[in-house]
Amino acid sequence: MIDLRKNSGLPIKEDGKYHLIFEGRLPKFKPAVRTIDEMKDVLLDKTLKEPKELYYMYRDVAFDEDRELEKKNQLRYDITIIKPDRLGKELMKTAGHYHPGNYPELYEVISGEAWCIQQKPSKEDFKKILDVIWIKAKTGDKIICLPGYGHILINPSKSQALITSNWVGTKFSSDYSLYCKAQGAAYLFLEENGKIKIQKNNFFSQVPPIREMYPNRKIEKFGLESGKPIYPLINTPEKLRFLNYPEEFDFADAFVTNA
Ligand SMILES: [Fe+2]
Repeated sequence: MIDLRKNSGLPIKEDGKYHLIFEGRLPKFKPAVRTIDEMKDVLLDKTLKEPKELYYMYRDVAFDEDRELEKKNQLRYDITIIKPDRLGKELMKTAGHYHPGNYPELYEVISGEAWCIQQKPSKEDFKKILDVIWIKAKTGDKIICLPGYGHILINPSKSQALITSNWVGTKFSSDYSLYCKAQGAAYLFLEENGKIKIQKNNFFSQVPPIREMYPNRKIEKFGLESGKPIYPLINTPEKLRFLNYPEEFDFADAFVTNA
């Protein structure tokens, strides 16, 4: 059991079986489950049968009294629990998607360690990747998914679940199809003989070298500070305006080159 109150700002616990326990005035939510069958298209080894369940998505979590502000500002808050495991040789990962309309997203690591792989395709040809960023984040860190980039999350740990929360605008639905066509992200993260191996995905005609980055620990204009939960930002919705109006903001300070 992991108490997530301090890191999430919500009265929640993880029950030790990758599910959430909702306490206090928080309504109880049920997760959508991502199964291995649904992931076939984005896996290197398509014959895999285990693990049957990979991650659990609690979508649209909120206190009842925050619904009005969420609706007015077109915002949604989700929590995702990604199991610690391997997918054959591949590290445990999410399916990956793009945001139509190039909207960004805001993640925070509530528990565990997260690697977020973001990739920017050329507007003319999605097989041409112009930039790939590998963001290494630990508990308390915030990750901005940049406008115009697709993203996946990786749980590099074999023993510890990765629990993230995210704020995202409600004006679009995620597009998973390009990640399915490409059978994954621009780079594959594998473990071979106990070592992490990063391999280009041959589907793409152009993939630049991966850039290793870390989350910026403090971004004042977005109300972000490492260790400070993002749920309460609903009370200062102007800080989350960048999610629905990215053209008004500069994202150059989202990441730094040193931890
Ligand atoms: Fe997303």
